Amino acid sequence: MRASGTRGWGRCGLGGLSHLAKSFRPVAVAPATLVAVTRIAVVPGSFDPITLGHLDVIGRAAGIFDELHVLVVHNPGKTALIPFSDRVALIKDSIAEARISGNILVTSWSVGLLVDYCTDVGATVLVKGVRGQTDLVYETPMAIVNRDLAGVETVFLLPNPEHAHVSSSLVRQVNSLGGDVRPYVPHAVARFLRPNAS
Ligand code: PNS
Repeated sequence: MRASGTRGWGRCGLGGLSHLAKSFRPVAVAPATLVAVTRIAVVPGSFDPITLGHLDVIGRAAGIFDELHVLVVHNPGKTALIPFSDRVALIKDSIAEARISGNILVTSWSVGLLVDYCTDVGATVLVKGVRGQTDLVYETPMAIVNRDLAGVETVFLLPNPEHAHVSSSLVRQVNSLGGDVRPYVPHAVARFLRPNAS
């Protein structure tokens, strides 16, 4: 015995599943309305200075999101090498030099929570580069707190492994001891740190 309205299922060889057919009866569905959603993401960091690893992540994120904000955030826990406004300019120059295309805004934020900035500009995603397990362990609690605070999700991107050992703190240290930081930073940063280098 078949429940009424199940003949289609039977013809497709699903007659034996007629007991399920009641719940799968076709229903009238309103025509779908397409709504254009602009996905805005924020790549936050101290960027003191921006490294080739950061630049790699920015390039990848710019290819994923409709609008990307690279946000220089004041980190009170760190002693700065490069003044805040210079960091913004260096990121802009580095993005231009690397010919990264996309809808990218570079700006800074020094007051309040990072997620306050996200809420202000309508960003729903934070992007963080993770070089390995240590980064993930460090970033995970912040990602959860940012989601709790404002519903902002964090997306982790893997940079090219050739940059896995590069960090701003390493660059600051090498630079302060007179070493060559050119393998680790964009040209704009190398020129800023060593204007007289050949
Ligand atoms: O490049 P850094 O120094 O690793 O960047 C760290 C940064 C700026 C992304 C991090 O310190 C941060 O998220 N600061 C925002 C402060 C905040 O909103 N904290 C509360 C939620 S975690």
